[in-house]
Amino acid sequence: MVYIAPSVLAADFSQLGEEVRRVEDAGADFLHLDVMDGMFVPNITFGAPVIASLRKKTDLIFDVHLMIRDPQRYLDDFIRAGADILTIHYESCEKPLDVIRQIRNNEVKVGISISPKTPAEVLLPLLTEVDMILVMTVEPGFGGQKFMPEMLDKVRLLRKEIIRRKLRVDIEVDGGISEDNAAQVASAGANIFVAGSAIFKSRRPRLVISRMRSEGIKNLYQG
Ligand code: DX5
Ligand code: ZN
Repeated sequence: MVYIAPSVLAADFSQLGEEVRRVEDAGADFLHLDVMDGMFVPNITFGAPVIASLRKKTDLIFDVHLMIRDPQRYLDDFIRAGADILTIHYESCEKPLDVIRQIRNNEVKVGISISPKTPAEVLLPLLTEVDMILVMTVEPGFGGQKFMPEMLDKVRLLRKEIIRRKLRVDIEVDGGISEDNAAQVASAGANIFVAGSAIFKSRRPRLVISRMRSEGIKNLYQG
């Protein structure tokens, strides 16, 4: 399955509720929520209270991307706020496996993300422990950056391994994704596409989402 996840980082924060409804009406599957702490990444966004407020406005699946140092401190807050998928960064904590298992004890899905400098191989021992892998296709921290096509080698390697081991793990790509590279990321093996600028800054979000979806479905690598 291919899923489209608009990132609210590119939305108008003065009217978040309306912005979320706009992408829900336009056919989004997930809502991607970028939480940044000014420590793990050089930017600060929002935390659990904002997510809890949005939870009342939409039925979209909440895909929460934690770009925070030592995320184990705040997992309960984000779960209570309504996260459906909680993704931590491999680089953000000493023992990612412990944090993954801590998330797993709750009824939410768990994702693990790698920044551009982190090799895909570090995730091989964790594939059986997670529902989703998030391969960053820009340096985490800001929206509107240029897509790094060389990250797709990681997606290829991970997708092949997931298929070889007959696992069911989604691969999400995040950063500079648009209708122009949806085919390329799908053919590498990614099936969840995060897009901030491409969707929220468009005057025709419905068209962008449907093009991304159809390019994804047409080109998805399935082994
Ligand atoms: C970057 C965030 C992304 C960002 C993507 O650190 O994780 O989710 O919002 O924005 P675009 O699609 O504009 O690159
Ligand atoms: Zn993100």
